[in-house]
Amino acid sequence: MSDIYIETPRLLLRQWQESDAEPFIKLNADPAVMEYFESIRSRSESLAQINRISTSIAQRGFGFFAIERKDSGEFIGFTGLTMAPFESWFTPCIEIGWRLSKEHWGHGFATEAAAACLKFGFEKLEAKKIYSFTSIYNKRSEQVMIRLCMRREGEFDHPNVQKGHLLVRHVLYSAVP
Ligand SMILES: CC(C)(COP(=O)(O)OP(=O)(O)OC[C@H]1O[C@@H](n2cnc3c(N)ncnc32)[C@H](O)[C@@H]1OP(=O)(O)O)[C@@H](O)C(=O)NCCC(=O)NCCS
Repeated sequence: MSDIYIETPRLLLRQWQESDAEPFIKLNADPAVMEYFESIRSRSESLAQINRISTSIAQRGFGFFAIERKDSGEFIGFTGLTMAPFESWFTPCIEIGWRLSKEHWGHGFATEAAAACLKFGFEKLEAKKIYSFTSIYNKRSEQVMIRLCMRREGEFDHPNVQKGHLLVRHVLYSAVP
């Protein structure tokens, strides 16, 4: 078993392990999961992403943790904290993000994992504010922010999305301890 960083009633949030690769490649290649990203991810892009994320967790002690269901042992996606990878008026900042495989939507897993990550960010990392953002059309993701009682700060154009692209406009939410 890899390092466990957070435990919730139904989930383990842990360092990534080899067996996560195939389900993550599948999740990242699912057009439904990637609907609000510019494209689905190839096998090699997903493997490179796991490499980046797990290195960041090992070096910093936080990152996008792999989520494992306690009842079945299945890998279901990720939730966690990272440094937002772009410049804007609210960066540098800690961002909270989530991505689950479609068959695990609708069970409250993202909110359960994210609530525990916010607590981890405030208590262990002593973050003063944690942000989350998503395309204005990604209502499922925005609903997670609302369920977490995050505050809507407004909207912004994501600098890493091409100007004029349908997905450029993002909602911005924040949470404080
Ligand atoms: C965003 C995403 C994680 C949200 O997943 P989700 O399943 O809708 O969110 P939750 O895990 O919090 O589950 C909430 C749902 O589970 C239901 N639920 C069922 N059992 C529950 C329980 N025991 N506790 C809480 N909620 C429960 C809730 O009623 C809610 O249902 P609803 O969507 O019909 O209102 C998911 O859609 C996803 O991975 N999307 C693709 C990636 C993505 O866009 N990420 C964000 C990019 S910035």
